[in-house]
Amino acid sequence: MNMYNVAVVGALGAVGREMTSILAERKFPVRTMKLLDIEAYEGQESLFNGTSVRVQTARAGAFTDVDIALFSAGAEASLSLAPIAVKEGAIVIDNSSAWRMDPQIPLVIPEVNPQALKTHKGLIANPNCSTIQMLVALKPIHDRYTIKRIVVSTYQAVSGSGQKAIEELHEQVKKYLDGEKISSRVYPHQIAFNALPHIDVFLENGYTKEEMKMVHETHKMLDPAIKVSATTVRIPVIRSHSEAINIETEKPFEVSEVVELLQQAPGVQVIDDVRSNAYPLALNAAGKDEVFVGRIRRDSSVDNGLNLWVVSDNLRKGAALNAVQIAETLVQQQLVHIPAN
Ligand SMILES: NC(=O)c1ccc[n+]([C@@H]2O[C@H](COP(=O)([O-])OP(=O)(O)OC[C@H]3O[C@@H](n4cnc5c(N)ncnc54)[C@H](OP(=O)(O)O)[C@@H]3O)[C@@H](O)[C@H]2O)c1
Repeated sequence: MNMYNVAVVGALGAVGREMTSILAERKFPVRTMKLLDIEAYEGQESLFNGTSVRVQTARAGAFTDVDIALFSAGAEASLSLAPIAVKEGAIVIDNSSAWRMDPQIPLVIPEVNPQALKTHKGLIANPNCSTIQMLVALKPIHDRYTIKRIVVSTYQAVSGSGQKAIEELHEQVKKYLDGEKISSRVYPHQIAFNALPHIDVFLENGYTKEEMKMVHETHKMLDPAIKVSATTVRIPVIRSHSEAINIETEKPFEVSEVVELLQQAPGVQVIDDVRSNAYPLALNAAGKDEVFVGRIRRDSSVDNGLNLWVVSDNLRKGAALNAVQIAETLVQQQLVHIPAN
């Protein structure tokens, strides 16, 4: 079996740490592991597969001996460093939003559009967390019944904003309970005991960038003909995003057929027994790999309407796991090389 020199950029962040542990857990064929982060963290130690690894600075020159680099250090770092890493010979799988909508760069969910990897030129983009779980659940339904329209509302965990947001929620909960004054650094308002209809920046059209990512990424990966309307909301949950998804399809369906389809879909687990209060929950999805789907029911207010509740761990399938699955697919399809031009 071929072994690969792997680097994780942003290795000490929420997603970076998850990437390192998932690579070990899934026994990715790692020959050497390089942990890269900002200069201030140089020399810190972090664990990979039970062994302590010294963190190095992510900079030009760091990728000359790397085959696959998993980037998770934010869009700015990806914009400047990812092309350098590719030039130095590494295939980059990038978790940030920097390259997702570039028509030359494949945006991939292995359960949805693995074929897009065939045309990669060294840089591959990992989609936004809220889009990944939505499309893993909707792909089999679209293939069978052709989705015309999606209306989605998200309930997103604070870990989606990184390690500092997790710390902010912990601090605010403690201060709230101790009756102390609460201040916010990561979010524009208190997140503890609150719900913020505001993820990423507001755009000219009144939507947030997070909402428009769900629109554009669905068009790029699933079908540009699908109409998508999204409202994204941050809630005080540590881990796992939940989504209320309403769809309309071209072709008629039976709800029981949809349930069966989802039961067989790769990466999906159906939890839907309301008589015993069984439905997907953020707390139960945390640390798991699957996209959990429940509350599957007809929307009788339109023709061929369906409602779903979809929950998945944003740090795993929404980020680190999807990136590692892309790397696994590259290995399986013998695509771990950068084409000459
Ligand atoms: N969290 C999620 O659920 C999720 C899901 C999908 C995609 N993503 C994307 O993944 C990326 C990382 O997210 P995260 O949640 O892991 O954030 P995070 O916890 O803030 O971690 C980012 C890490 O990268 C470091 N970093 C910053 N600039 C760097 C640079 N130029 N070179 C090397 N390292 C640098 C950060 O250092 P400092 O701490 O000092 O800044 C931090 O250690 C973001 O682009 C995010 O949009 C996140």
